Amino acid sequence: MSEPSWWRDAAVYEIYVPSFADSNGDGWGDLPGVVERLPYLEALGVDVLWLTPIHPSPFADHGYDVADYLAVNPRFGTPADVDRLVEAAARRAIRVLLDLVPNHTSDQHPWFEDARRGRDAQHRDYYVWRDARPDGRPPNNWVSAFGGPAWTLDEPSGQFYLHLFAPQQPDLNWAEPRVAAEFDAILRFWLERGIAGFRVDVAHSMAKHPELLDNPRLDPPPKPPGGRPGRPREWDFFEHRHDLSQAEGLEIHRRWRRLAETHDALLLGEVNLREPQPLGRYASAGGLHAVFAFPMAETSWEPAAVIALVRELATASRHLVWAHASHDRSRPVTRFGGGATGRRRALTLATLTVGLPRAPLLYQGEELGLDDADIARQDAQDPLARLTPGAFARDVVRSPMPWTTGPNLGFTSAAAAWMPFGARDALDTAAAQEDDPASPLRRHRALLAARRALTDLRRGEGPDWLGVAPPLVGYRRGDCVVAANLGTEPAQVPLPPGQWTAVFSTADAPGRVLAAEQAAIFTRA
Ligand code: NOJ
Repeated sequence: MSEPSWWRDAAVYEIYVPSFADSNGDGWGDLPGVVERLPYLEALGVDVLWLTPIHPSPFADHGYDVADYLAVNPRFGTPADVDRLVEAAARRAIRVLLDLVPNHTSDQHPWFEDARRGRDAQHRDYYVWRDARPDGRPPNNWVSAFGGPAWTLDEPSGQFYLHLFAPQQPDLNWAEPRVAAEFDAILRFWLERGIAGFRVDVAHSMAKHPELLDNPRLDPPPKPPGGRPGRPREWDFFEHRHDLSQAEGLEIHRRWRRLAETHDALLLGEVNLREPQPLGRYASAGGLHAVFAFPMAETSWEPAAVIALVRELATASRHLVWAHASHDRSRPVTRFGGGATGRRRALTLATLTVGLPRAPLLYQGEELGLDDADIARQDAQDPLARLTPGAFARDVVRSPMPWTTGPNLGFTSAAAAWMPFGARDALDTAAAQEDDPASPLRRHRALLAARRALTDLRRGEGPDWLGVAPPLVGYRRGDCVVAANLGTEPAQVPLPPGQWTAVFSTADAPGRVLAAEQAAIFTRA
């Protein structure tokens, strides 16, 4: 099995389409808006764009409830706009990935609308239907990741349908061969249009245990490595032994891998597991090309735990996308203390992982050092926040990009954006940061430029971890060393013998001695 040659050196950028850039003044980000911002993305130094779902959707889960996989939501543009984006991006050597949502559809997808017609409906078996237990309870003890039972009763047919997410997101039945055939066609459709691959949503969840056995309960829930801020969800109280991570799921990935290879395309999987160790299984053996290292996007600032986590992840797989942020998780600046402290720590951690196999990822606004937006809970649209009172409302990381200090921060010419911005100040905007060499934008740009300039950082042997103890950490790849001091005192990096120079630093004054919470990249002079 091979991988696309262009993937070897790539850096990935996640575009949360509704909030990136609005080109037509309707208050919603759209595909032509992405085209307009390609110069910004090229200057930032990213090679692969992952677009969150662009398909028609009732938006019960912000587009992760797809009503037609082969169409484009008119709010975001047209199929021709996809073509234009792919072509314009290609002229800048940038590739475009779509978000494939194969675990569930919208309840307004025609397949589900038909399946609901009754037990004999043509598409009934596209979904997972079961009778109640003899005492009337749902078929098993599975819970939804958003809260409440994972089953909803369909009264006319007297059966429950399964949904690991919101009730408006019925799970597909991947034991039904017609579902697999439908998805083959969906993949082919977009690959033939020039899409460079897919980010696969909850890639470890499609296959379920054939007998839908109860999941074992864990009480209290184990603390995830690196710590995770926030209250545990009901979901965290279960070992997901029978609803996630089934061996048959890997077969689905292999099938897609064969298809992707015929188009030189990439499959990046969202495998959202508590522990780093099992991640390796998903990005190997001819399955997904890489998986996101999402435990990193959930840590709080606990230096020893964070260092242990980075090392554990790097050991688990050489095919990770190092994500510190996403549209689902509190932004690193906020998790790490907010303000200048949070920004400093976030950049230090992004630097530490930038040279680890295989690729770095930036989530829109991360390069601006944005923190979670201040959005009132009553304005939250996130189903997670609505179904689990007290849970993290993901709206706060989905607010529109602050481009300029003009009206609506340059995001839209409409009277208002589709969702509030939260409090942003002038220094949060891309325009203001452009002029300041010490801004998060300029430093992230320099960081990606350093990675691009140093072949060993992308392809070298290693990482070989330096023999240092936390809060200092570092590794060598070929003729490059990346080191970070997560502590509060200055610390000297024990560089290997020879002449080394710092080619990137998170703060001024790069040298062998790293200040508190500073990271640097060194190369052999
Ligand atoms: C993961 C996506 O990133 C998230 O936004 C979504 O709610 C769930 N999968 C369900 O599709």
